[in-house]
This record gives sequence, structure tokens and C-alpha cells, in this order.
Amino acid sequence: MYLLYTVIASLSFFLVLKWMKRRRYFTELKRLDGKTVLITGGNSGTGKETAVALATRGARVIIACRDPEKAEKAVREIKVQSRSFNVFHMELDLANLRSVSEFCKTFLHKEKSLHILVNNAGMPGILDWTDDGFSTCFGVNHLGHFLLTNLLLPRLKECAPSRVITLTCSSYKYQKLDFQDLNCNLLPFFTYCRSKLANIYFSQELARITEGKGVTSYAADPGFVQSGWTCHYSFLFRMVMQVIMWMFSVPCEIGAQTVVYCAVSDEAAKLSGGYFVDCQPATLRPFARDAGVAKKLWEASERLVKLA
Ligand SMILES: NC(=O)c1ccc[n+]([C@@H]2O[C@H](COP(=O)([O-])OP(=O)(O)OC[C@H]3O[C@@H](n4cnc5c(N)ncnc54)[C@H](OP(=O)(O)O)[C@@H]3O)[C@@H](O)[C@H]2O)c1
Repeated sequence: MYLLYTVIASLSFFLVLKWMKRRRYFTELKRLDGKTVLITGGNSGTGKETAVALATRGARVIIACRDPEKAEKAVREIKVQSRSFNVFHMELDLANLRSVSEFCKTFLHKEKSLHILVNNAGMPGILDWTDDGFSTCFGVNHLGHFLLTNLLLPRLKECAPSRVITLTCSSYKYQKLDFQDLNCNLLPFFTYCRSKLANIYFSQELARITEGKGVTSYAADPGFVQSGWTCHYSFLFRMVMQVIMWMFSVPCEIGAQTVVYCAVSDEAAKLSGGYFVDCQPATLRPFARDAGVAKKLWEASERLVKLA
């Protein structure tokens, strides 16, 4: 009897886990021949799977990565998986604003078009600083992408209709922005939450600024995915997270589906400024829809990256 109860309990547990991990797969096979896609941090995780999906649809895909060796290896793998030769890499370190500016100069010189920009690269909450003195989360996840997008915006407008997809995370809801301390001297996890909230405000304000100019902007949440973000932590933490990820997370290929949906689907084309989860529009907490805060963050970011 005891054995039967154990079997039933285990089966129910696995069924509940399976139900919790059920996710949509974006199946629209729209071709992207002649389109150029730029993906930051496309050498691993969600970014790499996004690159495979978009290259498979015929796009010219460029992954922008900080480590040329990892990038080269990823390009080889993306080419094999997508059966496309149209995949390249360029060097970009989002933790260094000078690197971002130089990257954009080279990109604009070399590439005559840009139709889809995926602001994917991201750092989890760790206690570290960028070369410009910002917390790694705020500097890489928000400020680096803020500068990158602004410098590439003229090309995106020239190539309209074009799209900007910025990756965010449901953990945005655990924090609010503090304009007295945007750099976030908090617990690393809270710093991460704020950077992901900043990604949402950024994508909303970008949608507002580009309204009627042929550029649309989306905040995409891939969900909890089995990527390599734990490599920044201790062995013990990694082991614990492996178990948690095995139970609750989905493969990066599945997480990337929401990004691909935002990049490709006709439905998303009409929903600029939206927040997307599991290949569909989702509702944000009211504080994350505050257009005044989004504008204020945009202006503060302009000052911080010296764009203003
Ligand atoms: N994992 C999740 O469950 C989850 C959930 C919600 C949202 N997200 C978001 O999804 C996005 C992708 O994350 P992921 O889970 O796929 O993690 P990942 O596999 O760790 O990918 C992160 C990518 O960002 C790159 N990167 C980090 N710092 C960089 C810098 N300074 N300059 C250029 N590239 C840099 C990494 O490059 P290196 O390989 O050189 O480190 C890597 O390619 C992130 O924005 C993350 O916040 C993830």
C-alpha cells in the first residue's frame, strides 16, 4: 500500500510539473530573407536559440558578443542548426560604453541594413561593476542596450518596418525604480529586478518615441529557462539551481519562442510597447505601465550615457 501511495504521489508531482512547464511554440513560418538581425549576447542561452530560429527563416544574423572565441564557436553551431551560412559575429562589450559606441560605428559602416534588433544579453544579480562604474546589472542590462539602441535607431528607421525586442523578466514586479539610486546599491537580486523593470520602461518609451516612424518595440519575457546564467555563482548555488531548473524551467529553445514571436509575427506588429510572455501579450503590474516613469528613466539614461 505504501508503495502504491509513493507511486501515485510521484506521478502526480511529475504531472503537476509538466503542467506548470506547458508553453506555446511559435509555428508561423514567415520567411525573413533579405532582413538583417542583430542579437546581443547571442553566443548562448536564449539569444543563441533566437539566432537559430531567425537564421532558419532566412535572415542575415549577426550576434554581438564580448568573447570572440565563444562567438566563433556559437556561429559554427548556429550555422549547422539553422542550415544557413548567413550568420556572423561582431565584438561588443555592453559593460563598456566606449565599446558600445565603437561597435555601433563599425556596424553602421559595415552593415547597410538593420531590421530586427534583439537586446538579449543580460547579467544576473552579482556584486560587480562595469568599466564606467555602474552596477553590472544596470550597466549591461539597461544602459549598454540603451546606448546601443539609440545609436542604431537611425538605421532602424531607414529600414522600417523594423523591430526592437528587449528581454525582460517577470522578476520586474519585485522592485520599483529609485531615481536617487538608479545604480542600485541593493541586494544583487533586487538590482537584477530593477534592471529588468528598466528594460520594460525602456521598451515602452522607445515605442512612444518611434510611433509612426515604422519602428516597433517589445518587452519579451522568455520565462524561467535552462540557460547558463548560474555560471556566475558558486558551485553550491549552481548545484541547488540545477535541481530547481530541472523541476521548473524550460529549454532555451522554448524560451526563445516569445522573442521570435515578437520579431516575426503579424499580430505583434500591431502591439508596439507591449509586454509579451509565452508568445502572447501579457498584463504588467500598474506601476510598470507608468509612462511618466518611463520618460524620466529615458532622460536620466541619456544623461548617464552622455547622449543628451
Ligand atoms: N534564464 C532565465 O530564466 C531568464 C528569465 C527571464 C529573463 N531572462 C533574460 O534573458 C536574457 C538572456 O539570458 P539567458 O538566460 O539566455 O542567459 P545566458 O545564457 O547567460 O546569456 C546571457 C548572454 O549575455 C551575454 N553577456 C553578458 N554580459 C555581456 C556583456 N557585457 N557584453 C556582451 N554580452 C554580454 C553573455 O555572454 P558571455 O557568454 O560572454 O557571458 C551571454 O551570451 C537576459 O536578458 C535575461 O535577463 C532570462
